[in-house]
Amino acid sequence: MTEHLLAFSQDLPTEPKVVDTADHIRRAADLFGRSLQGRIRIDINLEDDLWPVRVDAAQFELALLNVALNARDAMPEGGLLEVSARNVTLDAGRTRLAGRAVAVCLRDTGPGIPRGVLGRVFEPFFTTKARGEGTGLGLSQAYGFAEQAGGALRIQSEPGKGTEVTFLLPAASDVAVEQDAPAPDRRS
Ligand SMILES: Nc1ncnc2c1ncn2[C@@H]1O[C@H](COP(=O)(O)OP(=O)(O)OP(=O)(O)O)[C@@H](O)[C@H]1O
Ligand SMILES: [Mg+2]
Repeated sequence: MTEHLLAFSQDLPTEPKVVDTADHIRRAADLFGRSLQGRIRIDINLEDDLWPVRVDAAQFELALLNVALNARDAMPEGGLLEVSARNVTLDAGRTRLAGRAVAVCLRDTGPGIPRGVLGRVFEPFFTTKARGEGTGLGLSQAYGFAEQAGGALRIQSEPGKGTEVTFLLPAASDVAVEQDAPAPDRRS
């Protein structure tokens, strides 16, 4: 399955550059704040001085949006979406990921995901939504994005206890943040 997902993620156009992590999370949160229709409270909790990450900025914001939209769909009566991010240092061993990374976590207070479903949610076209309401591509985009950034996507969920999706993105420290446009020349 992983190979299948990797092939899928490689089809996405990508233009990685070093970005300000907090900036992009706030931009995405702004965007989904408007699409959550006010029923859902959004709490944003970003550690100061988050390390920059090297990602495709558009894919990053889309991935955050896809995860937030799932939280919205899971909480039709309202609830809480917590967006948090912190710098972490991962031990070598368990996964190929080691060293400095930024963990970006979206947690909702929805009904959670049954165990039998949880193992399939990253599969392209896997959806439990009614025909016409979901294509099953949201989380596979998020998964492909995280892999392409050299990171990983994790999901934890238990019925009755909500859902938590975590992006682990390798820190691009030691490199300056690349700006969209050169800084304006302030000399007169
Ligand atoms: N926060 C969540 N709470 C409960 N179930 C979830 C959550 N996020 C994902 N799921 C489950 O995982 C499935 C796959 O999610 P994914 O985002 O890939 O597709 P989708 O939301 O069904 O469709 P699309 O994102 O293309 O509109 C969902 O159909 C749903 O069953
Ligand atoms: Mg979705």
